[in-house]
Amino acid sequence: MFNIINLKEVTSTMDVIKNYPVNTIVVADRQTKGRGKNDREWISNESENLYISLSVESKNKNVNYSYYTFLSSVVVIEAIKSLITEDINIKSKWPNDVLVNGKKFCGILLERDLQRNFIVIGIGINVNSHPELIDKMLFKPTNLLEEGISIKKEEILEKFVNIFEEYSNRLLNEGFEWLRKEWLKYAYNLGKEINVKLKDLQVNGIFEDIDKDGTLLIMTEAGIAKILSGDIF
Ligand code: BTN
Repeated sequence: MFNIINLKEVTSTMDVIKNYPVNTIVVADRQTKGRGKNDREWISNESENLYISLSVESKNKNVNYSYYTFLSSVVVIEAIKSLITEDINIKSKWPNDVLVNGKKFCGILLERDLQRNFIVIGIGINVNSHPELIDKMLFKPTNLLEEGISIKKEEILEKFVNIFEEYSNRLLNEGFEWLRKEWLKYAYNLGKEINVKLKDLQVNGIFEDIDKDGTLLIMTEAGIAKILSGDIF
């Protein structure tokens, strides 16, 4: 289903993918202008890590744009788990990070190509190295190798593509409910107290659930709060 394009150095795979038809995966060894959520930089000068973008069509009514972050997190987790035998502490952090041993090694960025009706999913995986913690980062970074998980980036990519194809077909055919349950199996701090940073305020409460739109539901002193976007920290 996906056409895979391997490139050495790009500004950002998020930009380069716009030169290709839908259902393309662009993989780059390095990015000179890698970007993350909220215009944060995604440092990408190490060819030993994975930087990929995928384009998918956004026409299907069953599929809300945000479902692709849940899908990508679950696929990253299952790809990694399928490559190792030992048990690992790997978690999906709402809405778009993946953690190992409580530290971030993978970030997911969703953008829309409105002209062509595409969704572009960008995924950065720190396989063998990670940037130093800087102020703008809300979560401590790490890489898989440092956490004792030694796998090749090519192996992760191959598994990722296979599982992504299978699960995205399932999402199109069956909708979000099975994926919501699958994502919740790995959810970081589910049932525990969390802090969520919104644009201008912070909300504290117990992480209860995510609803059928992917909205975060937390129990605060004032009752259930539905949060559409923010950062858990
Ligand atoms: C985040 O955690 O804020 C999301 C980070 C997304 C990084 C990836 S790396 C591949 C793709 N190209 C980019 O410029 N960003 C995404």
